Amino acid sequence: MTDLLKLEDFRVSFSTPRGDLHAVRSVDLTILKGESVGIVGESGSGKTVLSRATMGLMPSTATQTGSAFFNGTDLSTLSRDDLRSHWGTGMAMIFQDPLTSLNPVRRIGSQLTEGLTVRLGMGREQARSRAVELLDRVRIPDPLVTMKKYPGELSGGMRQRIVIAIAIACTPELLFADEPTTALDVTVQAQVLELLTELRAERNMTMVLVTHDLGVVAGHTDRVVVMYAGQIVETAPTKDLFRNMKMPYTEALLKSIPRLDQPSGQRLQVISGRLPDPTKTEPGCAFAPRCTYATDKCRAEAPPLTTAPNGHQYRCFFPITGAN
Ligand SMILES: Nc1ncnc2c1ncn2[C@@H]1O[C@H](COP(=O)(O)OP(=O)(O)OP(=O)(O)O)[C@@H](O)[C@H]1O
Ligand code: SF4
Ligand SMILES: [Mg+2]
Repeated sequence: MTDLLKLEDFRVSFSTPRGDLHAVRSVDLTILKGESVGIVGESGSGKTVLSRATMGLMPSTATQTGSAFFNGTDLSTLSRDDLRSHWGTGMAMIFQDPLTSLNPVRRIGSQLTEGLTVRLGMGREQARSRAVELLDRVRIPDPLVTMKKYPGELSGGMRQRIVIAIAIACTPELLFADEPTTALDVTVQAQVLELLTELRAERNMTMVLVTHDLGVVAGHTDRVVVMYAGQIVETAPTKDLFRNMKMPYTEALLKSIPRLDQPSGQRLQVISGRLPDPTKTEPGCAFAPRCTYATDKCRAEAPPLTTAPNGHQYRCFFPITGAN
């Protein structure tokens, strides 16, 4: 498989009254064509900033350095207009909040046909019939009726299907799905994830699935990237990660997944402590204050990213050994 996206020493910081906030700290990441990659990490670890910055969707308070190659083109050298020309057809994003990604005062039909007419140059009728096909594909009942509705007239699950239809309308090569199911109830979550997985396979689309839930990535990705405090701390093929995880942080994340066989009333283990202050750069491993395996070495030195012979990467001096 060939590279589709390649990030090199990619960094994003924000200028804030408390000083520079380092949201993404030197990320190197390659995503291959056709791959489905899960990015996991706690709230605040930099998942959304990494995805949005790759697409060039950062506010003016952000400073971005390093490079992002998409299909071999260095996106940092493109003008804003050239970068926008990639949206929809090259890269598309399902945003974290499905309520704000649809315009409440515009009918579904007009929101869905916009990309088709503007980016693909379709005429009104052609765009309308493609929109109906798309709604049908994401299993919206009565597409013709739904086209005339406003977002507020639909359930959360239906709205998210429409957001997906808009995102895939111009057949993007790379789809970022940022917490696509967080706002939905559990049964609908499973249906929406299944739909994304089907669409990815039938369109040979590359997908980056962003979530704080390792349970979500388990069945829907080929590879997992674990982020902590703006850095990649572990990456491995999904099966390998679950069979043989190396990072104490990933292990702690896994213990915080709710399980169906868990006796009701039993509380989930949450990772005690908090993420480090993103406006500071402390010595040592960023996870050390919360890590049950931390030693003086961890508190003094930052562990480098180590690559095992099978390609499994981790950032830890004392990786967990043996099968999990
Ligand atoms: N526009 C902004 N200005 C300043 N800081 C920001 C901005 N956007 C994000 N941040 C900060 O960047 C860091 C990473 O945020 P990000 O939204 O990427 O986290 P996340 O991993 O997506 O979390 P969540 O799971 O809650 O969505 C956080 O400390 C956040 O407060
Ligand atoms: S380097 Fe040390 S503190 Fe960091 S995750 Fe590994 S054992 Fe824990
Ligand atoms: Mg986020």
